[in-house]
Amino acid sequence: MSVPTMSKDRTARAREALARCDALANFSEDTNSLRRTFLSPPMHNCHASVAAWLKPLGVSAQVDAAGNLRGTYAGTDPNSPRLLIGSHLDTVPNAGKYDGILGVVLVIALLEELDGRRLPFAIEIVGFSEEEGVRFGVPFIGSRALVGRVDEDLLGRRDRNGISVREAIQQFGLDDQGIGEAALGDDVLGYLEFHIEQGPVLEKSARQLGVVEAIVGQTRLALRFLGRANHSGTTPMDARQDALVAAAEWMVAVESYAKQIPGLVATVGSIEAKPGATNVIPGEVRLSLDVRHRSDETRSGAIRELMGLAETIARKRGLCSQWNPMLEQDAVLLDGFLADQIEFAIRSTGCGPHRMASGAGHDAMILAERVPSAMIFLRSPGGISHDPAETVLLEDVERAIEAGIRLLDQLGLSQEFLGRKRRA
Ligand code: HGY
Ligand code: MN
Ligand code: MN
Repeated sequence: MSVPTMSKDRTARAREALARCDALANFSEDTNSLRRTFLSPPMHNCHASVAAWLKPLGVSAQVDAAGNLRGTYAGTDPNSPRLLIGSHLDTVPNAGKYDGILGVVLVIALLEELDGRRLPFAIEIVGFSEEEGVRFGVPFIGSRALVGRVDEDLLGRRDRNGISVREAIQQFGLDDQGIGEAALGDDVLGYLEFHIEQGPVLEKSARQLGVVEAIVGQTRLALRFLGRANHSGTTPMDARQDALVAAAEWMVAVESYAKQIPGLVATVGSIEAKPGATNVIPGEVRLSLDVRHRSDETRSGAIRELMGLAETIARKRGLCSQWNPMLEQDAVLLDGFLADQIEFAIRSTGCGPHRMASGAGHDAMILAERVPSAMIFLRSPGGISHDPAETVLLEDVERAIEAGIRLLDQLGLSQEFLGRKRRA
């Protein structure tokens, strides 16, 4: 199996992948920053560009009823089983160009590297419609459709403008009745996702690529502190039920609690004070909480503790607190066989891989419910992500393409992989 080492054209291929990330970053809901949420209008342009890049490869990409862009690069046989490779095409607000997106354009680079060669499995590229959970507060809508977990509760969730998931699908020109057809069949051998690490680990260990062994669990919830709006000029300081001060006291307590628990992260990412006027004591505060840990038990213990803290602080100040879960996602172990195959492929490029867990959530944690799933991380310079400063190094993209093509050839020769019993 002769695979060219770091060839000049692979540098060009990597450069083209980065240029494609630049091109897709133009498709945004905002003028001066990148925001592309679930089935927003710019997603049409994004789909059109990716489909156009796939066309010369003989891959005709379609959008399924959950808004995922999908296309298949045929295997040696029309009935070959499939390997899914992909990531998400939606972004957070004020996003970087590579989170999710790089994982989709890297599949195109691999298909171009194959240059017409066929493998004993087809490759289905997937650009998921919604991994971040920005528009509707719940993530993984696209990947949940592939594992058959889009239910009425999810379809009924409404965004800030009162539009439901179902209506967003219809407004995008898709048939919401066809959601069931997006689910995977039993011919899928596995799912592979390339993704930037989004953290400092690979850079600190001077590694280009990482083998992801597990993805930490996460809880996302919406919390409200309910006090009493009142006049800021006439209400004495000892006669207030100020919801924003209660929230502030609680947020500081969240940080100090999380700092005591190794491996725990807890974040209040958004806060809204109502009515939001300078001369009115806030009567209500809505905020988000995102808690993650590799152990589900530690994470749920932290949620209990932090919600108890909210109640105590609220009661002490004559307020009440209310919360509702937006996401409960247990930690996921990724497929050991595929992780070993990835490690071998990375080593065969001459670089040492780093085995690690992912602090970020990924579609792979949803796909893993149905098919063996694996992830390859690319180093994040500065450990920055979910920000325009997010970046990736050309040589790491080259390395990922080289490791990826070696991995595909390895899997094509592996009877253990090809003979894997698909989960029913
Ligand atoms: O929030 C996350 O973990 C991912 O970036 N969506
Ligand atoms: Mn993200
Ligand atoms: Mn991502």
